[in-house]
Amino acid sequence: MKIWVDRLKQEHTLPPEGYKALLTCTHVDVTTYLHRQAQKVTQARFGNNIYIRGLIEISNCCRNNCYYCGIRKGNPQVERYRLSRETILDCCTQGYELGFRTFVMQGGEDAAQSSEWVEETVAAIRNRFPDCAITLSLGEKTREEYERFFRAGANRYLLRHETFNAEHYKLLHPAEMSQQNRIQCLHWLKEIGYQTGTGIMVGSPGQTTDHLIEDIRFIECFRPQMIGIGPFIPHQDTPFGTSAPGSIEQTLRLLSIFRLMLPDALIPATTALATLAPDGRERGILAGANVVMPNLSPCEERIKYALYNNKASLGAEAAEGLAMLNKQLQAIGYKVLPTRGDAPNGDNPFK
Ligand code: 5AD
Repeated sequence: MKIWVDRLKQEHTLPPEGYKALLTCTHVDVTTYLHRQAQKVTQARFGNNIYIRGLIEISNCCRNNCYYCGIRKGNPQVERYRLSRETILDCCTQGYELGFRTFVMQGGEDAAQSSEWVEETVAAIRNRFPDCAITLSLGEKTREEYERFFRAGANRYLLRHETFNAEHYKLLHPAEMSQQNRIQCLHWLKEIGYQTGTGIMVGSPGQTTDHLIEDIRFIECFRPQMIGIGPFIPHQDTPFGTSAPGSIEQTLRLLSIFRLMLPDALIPATTALATLAPDGRERGILAGANVVMPNLSPCEERIKYALYNNKASLGAEAAEGLAMLNKQLQAIGYKVLPTRGDAPNGDNPFK
């Protein structure tokens, strides 16, 4: 079985049966070998450095009704908020002082934060923090909107495809959303010149190994600069509230597979991973992750951005917990690198 790991490391691709073998393999020594090789590849590219991104959750209002997501439109329990531009700029200022050089503005698809508003907010951050990268994670927009945000100074965009299989996509989303549109958006983002991130939830309801193989093959062909993968975690006020969470082991296997496939990719040890296991962040890094995204949102709003139950936003998941994060990373031989941390093959206007 280790032969598949070696082949993936050398050739950066496998036939479907190779991916299947790795995803279904329960031999601890093979999984350990997979993670070790992925870690080696990461260290060869990035050394012992972990990039940090300051996550600002700008709105928990959303027009969508994704069945898995805690801030879906149909959840009346959510106390809704949206941050003002001034608050967002304050978050950036705090983050800058802490050493962050990338700000990620993430939010629901909130029509009240119009494209003009987003554009002007991006321009204001670009103006005040010319040496920082601006990442957006605001869902599906028109090509023109993506272009406007890019021209205003945004450099990166995160949009997980969640699942490549159209039928499975239908199981996770209401009829007005489609896998085709999601994939179209990703192609636009790349064409416009964003460093583009995509990814999946692992263990979402109805997901099979064959679906995961479709996701791997999509990512292999799309070649995103960033890959976000975390376990599905149920949220009690959603239609999937009583579903089982995704597997940490399967999340880590996928993380290592993606690392061996795309050695230059920026892969975070996600908050969902850190939420599901106390040592999830460290295990992600030891399996090939090289990014963490501490929370820079105002403390009083963090609890309201609950995509899933018990979402971590304190301690090493919080921007103000950077010292704690550094300590935890040092314990496994890593350190935070306070730079922009662009993808090695990304478009960096500052190079
Ligand atoms: N469990 C895990 N991840 C989730 N996301 C949304 N809801 C959940 C959940 N219940 C992820 C999606 C989305 C990202 C912002 O958060 O993959 O793209």
